[in-house]
Amino acid sequence: PLKPGLEMIVSLCINLILSVVGLGAVIRTIPAVATMFINAGLFGKDLCKKDREKKVPESMGMVSGLVFLIIMFLFLGVPFGQHFMNPETPFPHTTFTEYLTSLLSICCMLFLGFADDVLNLKWRFKLVLPTLASLPLLMVYYINLGSTTVVVPKPLRTWIGLTLNIGPLYYVYMSMLAVFCTNAINIYAGINGLECGQAVVIAGSVIVFNIVELGGYQAKFHYFSLCLIIPFTASALGLFYHNRYPARAFVGDTFTYFAGMTFAVVSIIGHFSKTVLLFFLPQIFNFLYSVPQLFHLVPCPRHRLPKYVPQKDKLEPSVAEFKASQILKPLLLALRFLNKLGLVRLEEGLGEDKEMCRINNLTLVNLVLLKLGPQHEASLTMKLLVLQVLSSGLAFFIRYPFADLFF
Ligand code: UD1
Ligand code: MG
Repeated sequence: PLKPGLEMIVSLCINLILSVVGLGAVIRTIPAVATMFINAGLFGKDLCKKDREKKVPESMGMVSGLVFLIIMFLFLGVPFGQHFMNPETPFPHTTFTEYLTSLLSICCMLFLGFADDVLNLKWRFKLVLPTLASLPLLMVYYINLGSTTVVVPKPLRTWIGLTLNIGPLYYVYMSMLAVFCTNAINIYAGINGLECGQAVVIAGSVIVFNIVELGGYQAKFHYFSLCLIIPFTASALGLFYHNRYPARAFVGDTFTYFAGMTFAVVSIIGHFSKTVLLFFLPQIFNFLYSVPQLFHLVPCPRHRLPKYVPQKDKLEPSVAEFKASQILKPLLLALRFLNKLGLVRLEEGLGEDKEMCRINNLTLVNLVLLKLGPQHEASLTMKLLVLQVLSSGLAFFIRYPFADLFF
C-alpha cells in the first residue's frame, strides 16, 4: 500500500488534473451560455465604458460554481474510492461528512447568490443568509470535536495563561467569518476583473500556505483545504479570463458569495480561520473604510464604482453629495481630519446655499484613484491585484517570522 504522504500527493495530482480540465470547461462554457443568460434577463451594463448599452451576461459565477461542484463530485471518488474496493479498511465517515457538509454550505451560498442576482435581496438578507448557510458546517465542526481554544499572545500570558477556551464565542466568530468573507469580496468590486482577480490571489495565497503546512502536524487539515481550493482557483481563473478588461461576462453576486463561502469553509474545516483573515487585508481595509456608507451615516449611492471619463478613457473617484446638516457632527469632524491626512477628499461649502458637501465614495478603489490620479480601467485592476499580492506577502510575514515573537 501507498504511504499516507504519497497517497496525498497522488490524489492532489489527480485533483490538479481535474482542475485543469475544469478550467478549460469554464472558459468554453461561458461564451456558449452567454446568450441564454441575456435572454433570461441576467445581464448588466458595463458602467465604465463608452458604450453603456451593451448587454454583458451577469451571474457567470454560476458556471464556475457548477464546474467546481462537478470537479469535487468526481474527485471524491479518489480519496474515498479505495475504501469501496478494500472493505477491510474502516470507512472514514467523519472526513467524508466534512467534505459533504462543506460542499453543502458552498452549494447553498451559490444558490443564495444567484437568488440575490435575480431578486436583488435587501441588505439584511445578505447578512442573515451566509450565517444560515454556515450552520451545517459549524455543526460538523462541533461534532468532530472542533477546538474552541485560542493561543494567548506572549505579553498577555502572565494574566490569562497559555491558551483560552472561548467556547461558543468561537462559533459566533466562525459564522461571522462566513458573512464577512462573502460581503467583503462583494463590496470590493466594480471594475473589470477585480472580483475574481482578488479571489484568485487569495486562493493562491491559501494554496501556498497549505503546501507549506503540509509538512506540519496538521497536514490532514491542509490537505483537505487543498482538495477544495485548487478546483476553486481553476474555476475562478476561467471566469477571470472572460471578466478581465474589457469584460465579456460579469461574475454576479453568485460568484462573490460562492468565493467568500469557499474561503470560510476551507479555513474553518482546515483549522486556519484566523490566518485566512490575513489574506483579506485589502478587503478588511475596504470594509472599515466603507463603514460610514454601509451604515448610511454618509449617503451611499446604489453604485460606488469609479466614474468613467469618456474624453480621457480613464476612471476617476466617484462621489457622494450631502448637506453638512445631514450627517452627525462628530462624523463630519472625523471626515475633515481624514481629509487633512489625505485619506478622503472632502469638499465643503458647495451649492447656492454653501451647505452642500461632496466626498469620494468610501472604497479602496476610489482611494487608490485619489492617490494615483485618473487611471485606465485595465491598469487600475492590475495595480489593485498587485496590491493584493503584496499584502499577501505581508500576511506571510505576519504569520511566520513576526507571529513567532508573539506566540
Ligand atoms: C457592490 C457595491 C457597489 C458597486 C457594485 C459593483 C457596495 C455597498 N456595493 O454592490 O457599490 O457599485 O458592487 O460591482 O459597495 N459593474 C460594472 N463593471 C464591473 C462590475 C460590475 O459596471 O466590472 C456593474 C454592472 O452594471 C453590473 C453591476 O455592477 O451589472 C453589478 O453590481 P452588483 O454586484 O449587483 O452590485 P452589489 O454587489 O449590490
Ligand atoms: Mg456584487
